[in-house]
Amino acid sequence: MGSLRFETLAVHAGHAVDPETGSVAPPIHLSTTFARNEDGVPLGGHTYVRESNPTEAQLEAALAPLEGGEAALVFGSGMAAGVAVLQALPPGSHVVFPDDAYYGYRAAAEQYLPNWGISSSFVSMDDPSAVEAAVREETRIVWLETPSNPLLKVADIRAIVEVARRANALTLLDNTFATPALQRPIELGVDVVLHSTTKYFGGHSDVQGGALVFATKGELWEKVDHVRHVLGAVASPFNSWLVLRGLRSLACRVAAQSAGALAVARALAEMPEVSAVHYPGLESHPGHEVAKRQMSAFGGMLSFQVRAGKEAALRAVGRARLFTRATSLGGVESLMEHRASSEGPDSRTPQDLIRLSIGLEHPDDLIADLRHALC
Ligand SMILES: Cc1ncc(COP(=O)(O)O)c(C=O)c1O
Repeated sequence: MGSLRFETLAVHAGHAVDPETGSVAPPIHLSTTFARNEDGVPLGGHTYVRESNPTEAQLEAALAPLEGGEAALVFGSGMAAGVAVLQALPPGSHVVFPDDAYYGYRAAAEQYLPNWGISSSFVSMDDPSAVEAAVREETRIVWLETPSNPLLKVADIRAIVEVARRANALTLLDNTFATPALQRPIELGVDVVLHSTTKYFGGHSDVQGGALVFATKGELWEKVDHVRHVLGAVASPFNSWLVLRGLRSLACRVAAQSAGALAVARALAEMPEVSAVHYPGLESHPGHEVAKRQMSAFGGMLSFQVRAGKEAALRAVGRARLFTRATSLGGVESLMEHRASSEGPDSRTPQDLIRLSIGLEHPDDLIADLRHALC
């Protein structure tokens, strides 16, 4: 399957017509336990649902080639996937995170890593020299998130991979916003790719899941697989099936969402009520040139700041009619949120910032809704 283009792979990876029934859509295996033969050998390679199950394995077989990795592991959520990597590290390890990493990982780093004997630093990843200054002898992982949530900052993946390699650290990249339809971190040297499959992979705001794709099926894969088995943050068969279904239309959804987001970002940049638009597809974005090198389009997420401040931003969110006022992203319907309110009292997000997830509506209708909301 290696030479197929992404759109084709997204439809066919990990897919086979069911040999017993001829069913084209994959079956869902809900069984929690699996039989063995007279000699005690598992009949189908599975023994117990927490360890592995056929629907989860089918999703993993689809995800690994989509990201260009050797193996994947799926989890109950994106948080569970990321934290499983941290749980696989020995005490004494150090992790470098982006300063605007998804706020759940910051909470995990601040509230739990110290209990496990792991330290962390947060640095601005749009500057590789800041990463260089932060790595130490005991740094095991340099964590990237590009474009980042919610400021859409862009990190130079190749440059940071080089910094991490010189420090003998692995790199993990949260590719939730871009998806492999637009950005292939493993081709740029990244060791592990992280996804909240709740977002674009599921694609319809109706399933929670997480995934890790490993460049090589080596020691780290083995350790994280063990963490999942013992600590139990597994994906359910039904959720794995829904994500598998979502994958099949990923390429065309993300292409349309990227085109819509670019149109919305350009329109917002012209509106007098808006003081800043954060979208890497805009020539004015500080990371635009780097994003052009490492992304084939710029994704369906953007954020902007309202010139008149927090109250005006809250009012605009309240006036929207077409955008749904809700957190999360990557579904077919466009979503809008006052991001700092969603993140809670510890949020570092500017109070005048509104985050948008662009869905599959016509961008002109979305732009008209934003004009109405902001006026
Ligand atoms: C970039 C990013 N990474 C990870 C996560 C966590 O995913 P989940 O909510 O599936 O645990 C999110 C959730 O919003 C996210 O936006």
